[in-house]
Amino acid sequence: MTEKFISIQQAIEQGKSLVSLHGWIYRERGSNKLKFVILRDSTNIIQCVFDRTLFEKQWEDIDKFQIECALTLNGELKKDERAPTGYEVQVKKFTLVGKSESFPIAKDQSVEFLADNRHLWLRSRKMTAILKIRSTVFGAIDEFFKSEGFYEYHSPIFQAVQCEGGSELFSVNYFDKKDVFLSQSWQLYAEPAIFALEKIYTIAPSFRAERSKTSRHLTEYWHAEMEVAWATFDDIMNYGEKLIKHVVKRVLETNAPELKLLERDTTKLEPIIKKPFIRMTYTEALKILKEKCKMDVEWGKDLRTIEEEKLTQLYDVPVICTRYPKKVKAFYMMEDPTNPDVVLGCDFLAPEGHGEIIGGSQREHSLEEIKKRLKLQGEDPLEYEFYLDTRRYGSVPHGGFGMGVERLIKWICGLDNIKDAIPFPRTMERYKP
Ligand code: 4AD
Ligand code: MG
Repeated sequence: MTEKFISIQQAIEQGKSLVSLHGWIYRERGSNKLKFVILRDSTNIIQCVFDRTLFEKQWEDIDKFQIECALTLNGELKKDERAPTGYEVQVKKFTLVGKSESFPIAKDQSVEFLADNRHLWLRSRKMTAILKIRSTVFGAIDEFFKSEGFYEYHSPIFQAVQCEGGSELFSVNYFDKKDVFLSQSWQLYAEPAIFALEKIYTIAPSFRAERSKTSRHLTEYWHAEMEVAWATFDDIMNYGEKLIKHVVKRVLETNAPELKLLERDTTKLEPIIKKPFIRMTYTEALKILKEKCKMDVEWGKDLRTIEEEKLTQLYDVPVICTRYPKKVKAFYMMEDPTNPDVVLGCDFLAPEGHGEIIGGSQREHSLEEIKKRLKLQGEDPLEYEFYLDTRRYGSVPHGGFGMGVERLIKWICGLDNIKDAIPFPRTMERYKP
């Protein structure tokens, strides 16, 4: 009969019994009589004790155990207050499944060293916790849109247009063609599809040739985007607020142990579910920055990281900042019918200084206005013919947004740097391993 393995977490939950476990050595210490191994699997860690009197023949192997050796073992589980997770296994039988060379990662290593060894650092308890939360976040985004009647829809990644500004485009050598780029956003290929599906979403990689070395920029990130036909500007903001509430709720329900391991203060997340988000215009934001933060921003300038940081520190829920100056926003955002200097665009700014996590807007539906703004940005409208057709054949009010999934994870987990929100971060300087 094949042995029935259970997870470490299941073992701890069922308490006193005979158990079969498999995992990797997280820590080890011992004498020439006893070996204490902390075994790790995807669910938890547990202390396992090897007594020499039971393993005289295998003692040489046991004595040579290294961190990250893979083991299967069978033994008696009992409560032990001194053990790290309150239980200990008295090992009766074991197999060394995979030996380990001396593991390069030890305590107090530099950020660069850990980045070079990212493939191994993923096994750390910190990264494991973040990756579990990341999995919940992706699932919750999907669940939210499906429950609201959205279809999942995909845009190409090779694109011949820019959506968010030409300076941040990655060119691709596409059979020596000059005008092929990696997608910055699915949006320009999503708008044509709302005429078929009306409510659509995606979660896909986006690429930005960001030259900024900040704690919130990646060159490759996962982008959750949505687009809705017949929607008003308020509808778009309401979807964004509801989405974030749903994701935070799911993480709090599912990932309490991981948040604890990350030392995340969850009382900072609870208001997100309970309280309405703060909504203010860009012009109001400047006034608040001046009065409460002593920061003078000239009207017409985009908010910088530092200003977003100060503004969001005033509230315990995200700030939805609206009606930015037209000249700092993308060509497709609709002009405010009551003020031609601003657009019906919104940025969701996360609390505690995390800043922009969502960018969205009502879409401009005047063909002439879009052409004019494309030209102002130095673009040739002829390249956008497929997109402009959306405004020629039965155009309707519509809008959408994009949420940076790693930005959201950074905030939910309370991380200092976005790089830890993704398994293999890509930045200006790093594309390996
Ligand atoms: O504000 P952005 O540029 O908006 C768009 O791309 C729209 N086309 C989305 C839409 O309406 N469908 O990007 C949207 C979000 C930002 O709010 C931010 O969270 C994230 O994408 N983002 C990044 N995340 C990580 N690294 C970067 N370099 C990012 N640039 C944008
Ligand atoms: Mg933006």
